[in-house]
Amino acid sequence: MILIAGATGLLGGIVAYQLLEKGEDVRILIRHDSPAAELAKQGLATPAQMLINNGARPIYGDLKDAASLDAACSGVETVITTANSIMRGGPDTIESVDLNGTKNLIDAARTAGVKHFIYTSAAGVDINHPNPFFQAKATCEAYLAQSGMVYTILKPGVFMEIWIGAVVGMPLQAAQPVTLVGQGDHKHAFVSVQDVAAYAVKAVDHPAARNAAILIGAPRAYSWTEIVEVVGQVMGHPLPINYVSIGERVPLIMEEMSQLLTTMETYEDKIDMAQTAAIYGVEPTPLTKFAARFFKVGVQPSN
Ligand SMILES: NC(=O)c1ccc[n+]([C@@H]2O[C@H](COP(=O)([O-])OP(=O)(O)OC[C@H]3O[C@@H](n4cnc5c(N)ncnc54)[C@H](OP(=O)(O)O)[C@@H]3O)[C@@H](O)[C@H]2O)c1
Repeated sequence: MILIAGATGLLGGIVAYQLLEKGEDVRILIRHDSPAAELAKQGLATPAQMLINNGARPIYGDLKDAASLDAACSGVETVITTANSIMRGGPDTIESVDLNGTKNLIDAARTAGVKHFIYTSAAGVDINHPNPFFQAKATCEAYLAQSGMVYTILKPGVFMEIWIGAVVGMPLQAAQPVTLVGQGDHKHAFVSVQDVAAYAVKAVDHPAARNAAILIGAPRAYSWTEIVEVVGQVMGHPLPINYVSIGERVPLIMEEMSQLLTTMETYEDKIDMAQTAAIYGVEPTPLTKFAARFFKVGVQPSN
């Protein structure tokens, strides 16, 4: 039995579908007040009912409620968590979910005798990172590594679907210029969520994933300015860009995303995927392929 926490999210939903397709016994941690059905209309989540219809077994629980996780982990061999607070808000915060909630799940899994724990972290996290989200992820990586369970830490770069959809797609839909922070020139390893899901599924029984951290990127890194150029090529016309100062609020997107856009202009991450892709047999999705697919069908410009 595989327990997935975060299955009603974007990545967790894809992972759940792929495991169910493989014939795995999948349990999903769900909440009564999940906004997933609403967010799914924008392609940003996965309704629990769709997973249940495909064979997933639901169990109610919340990472903030440690006691609820005991039953969720009971009889489970592998836990996969993609849960995080960024798109949720309210009582779901970096401290309550990404830090303490993830630790609650690690503790419950260890106590229940779970053999393998697969944690979705991110590239570039550090215990001393100025951004508390990155700090929390690094703290949980260390906490898991010393838990005694076999662990796999997935460390993807920035998700193309979420970030390019928000930063470029939303202004396109609103017929406004794209807003970039600073010079928009720091290069990052943007990755398709489909690739990250493929690694999560492979990690369940691939020997290389035992007690390993897997950096997940794309064939090359891009700056935001370059991304806007690539999308402009797909759309057939250059897209106007409005640059704002570091720290300034970016319109149309969530406050948390705006802050992370500033963070992205303070570091770069380039991930060479050749070796990892060969080990796991996952072909990285290039930005050009993603943009052609997403912006031809994913976004309808309003003018
Ligand atoms: N987006 C990126 O660019 C990026 C880059 C690198 C790494 N990552 C990491 O990749 C992972 C997946 O991201 P995603 O965008 O697919 O996530 P997402 O769509 O925002 O999914 C959030 C999931 O977490 C669950 N959740 C939130 N708070 C919870 C709580 N208190 N108890 C139980 N479940 C809770 C949500 O459940 P409900 O539906 O019940 O609210 C939902 O299933 C995350 O760990 C993220 O940090 C993302």
